Amino acid sequence: MKKLHNKVALITGAGAGVGAATARYFSEQGAKLILTDINAEAVEAVAASLPDAIAAPLDVADENAWQSAVDRGLSEFGGIDILVNNAGIDLTTPLLETSAETFNLLTRVNQLGCFLGMKTVGAVMNKGGSIINLSSLAGLQGIAGRVAYVASKFAVRGMTKVAALELADRGIRVNSVHPGPVNTAMLATGAADAPIDEAAAAAALDKIPLKRVAEPEEIAALLSFLASDDSAYSTGSEFVVDGGIAAGPSF
Ligand SMILES: NC(=O)c1ccc[n+]([C@@H]2O[C@H](COP(=O)([O-])OP(=O)(O)OC[C@H]3O[C@@H](n4cnc5c(N)ncnc54)[C@H](O)[C@@H]3O)[C@@H](O)[C@H]2O)c1
Repeated sequence: MKKLHNKVALITGAGAGVGAATARYFSEQGAKLILTDINAEAVEAVAASLPDAIAAPLDVADENAWQSAVDRGLSEFGGIDILVNNAGIDLTTPLLETSAETFNLLTRVNQLGCFLGMKTVGAVMNKGGSIINLSSLAGLQGIAGRVAYVASKFAVRGMTKVAALELADRGIRVNSVHPGPVNTAMLATGAADAPIDEAAAAAALDKIPLKRVAEPEEIAALLSFLASDDSAYSTGSEFVVDGGIAAGPSF
């Protein structure tokens, strides 16, 4: 039996990167999919390539849009068993140079978006479920030049624990996932507004114990485990998938 047979999953940011890879991975495991993204064209293309998948354009920072996407999913599939709060953005934000406007942008997408997802979908998960929040290594440790991203990803880690405690008696598990560098558009630019520095990228790679970045499918595999009943006793926990970076310096 496929691990996600007949389970319905809503995935945010499913038009590219980790979200699109997760859509494909979950589909192979038998899931029905509500695929959402702020980029309607991209998410419609992913949904069109998979069976039992619908696309629902959604800006995760928009509360009304969340309700519309959830209503659409419920009318199509009758329930939601899995939520993957994956949509996120990264910008370079040094402490002394970051405007309140930029800080708020990252907070709205990465933090408010995750909160609204848990609130809206958690309310309709009537038969238990699994909520998975994409944090980051940046939710476990500081990264110079990333004050707003780190703040938002620490917040995701904290909110995950509150939700796990509050939703446990309804059979809903909530966990956070903490990837190191993943081979997506987000990584290709280092941050959405920063030029690529080849030398710095090579030096960064050398500091990863496994000496490579992750492929999006390797994150999707962990998300699939957390979505499935194989992880039935895990809630409120942090799952690190980082090639060994968080284990500490290797000198
Ligand atoms: N790539 C990495 O190295 C890395 C490392 C750690 C954590 N993460 C986290 O993994 C998640 C996925 O990252 P990725 O690398 O696939 O990024 P990506 O940039 O490749 O894809 C992100 C997707 O989210 C969508 N999106 C952006 N803003 C949105 C919004 N307001 N509402 C809905 N959708 C929106 C984009 O359109 C895009 O399709 C993010 O939460 C990111 O912070 C990524």
